[in-house]
Amino acid sequence: MRDLEREKIIQYFNYNITLEHSAIIQYLFHAYTIGDAETENELEEIAREEMKHLRMFAHKVVELGGKPAIFDRAAVFLNAPTYEDLIQLDIDAELMAIQEYKRQRDEITEESAKKILTRAIEDETAHSVIFKKMKENVKNIVKNGSSEIDENMAKVVQLLNTVLQKQYQKILEHLFQSFMLRHKNPILSDEVEQKAIDQMKHFGWIAEEISEKGFSIDVNLPKAKPMENPQDIIKAVKEEEITAKKEFQEISSKVESPDLSWILQRIADREIHYTDLERFLNSNDVDAKMASEIVKAFTVGSLFKRGG
Ligand SMILES: [Fe+2]
Ligand SMILES: [Fe+2]
Repeated sequence: MRDLEREKIIQYFNYNITLEHSAIIQYLFHAYTIGDAETENELEEIAREEMKHLRMFAHKVVELGGKPAIFDRAAVFLNAPTYEDLIQLDIDAELMAIQEYKRQRDEITEESAKKILTRAIEDETAHSVIFKKMKENVKNIVKNGSSEIDENMAKVVQLLNTVLQKQYQKILEHLFQSFMLRHKNPILSDEVEQKAIDQMKHFGWIAEEISEKGFSIDVNLPKAKPMENPQDIIKAVKEEEITAKKEFQEISSKVESPDLSWILQRIADREIHYTDLERFLNSNDVDAKMASEIVKAFTVGSLFKRGG
């Protein structure tokens, strides 16, 4: 049945979103744990590719009328006795994804969904090769011995981890909004995606500060709010601008390190969104009817015969 095929793709791709989400968090966590510049860069680069996969899967889910499961995550494996063991966890994640994506590709017939899986399989295969080399290289990295814990520093790190969690939450929320608005309001969708990208950058800055101090980043899955109504989204973004700026300034004033204070102040300043989002509220380039036409023409219209 055709509708069954559509449901199947939504279900598979939503599962894949949780896999990609886990991979991103796991690889970033490992990157900051190991701390060696070259390894960190390589891991971050791979995490960026997983974000691309997550985006491809999410866009397909929305195109088929589903909601992307971006607020969920599969298991993450963060710690291991040695750096080699850590990278082995990443190799395992890649091999598991390859196996799963191949299985799905054999089970579905819709061509554009197969193509997305093929692209992901190619990338994951390359990643597993890179990780195997990385596993050899990390053998030579000396693990940082745990230095004595500075009470004051621990408090600052706790504060930073709160900020990190907030950024993580906002990244998920803005990505969800961007995916849901992709056809309904493409301009606004693009704007909130830019916010998410900014926040990913902030996440990286803060994570780096925390790990440089010898602490672990808090990557627990935050509770996030799904929002898809343009009016609500714009209202929320505007409120966020004000409260987040205030919060960052407050934390920045509590922090004694000038470098750290500078980073927090910089994030505070970047909370201001550069375009007036309200402008895009009623200027939807694509209205609902047109959107459904586009979706139909895009892909599966002929296959699924939506709406007869
Ligand atoms: Fe991936
Ligand atoms: Fe991968």
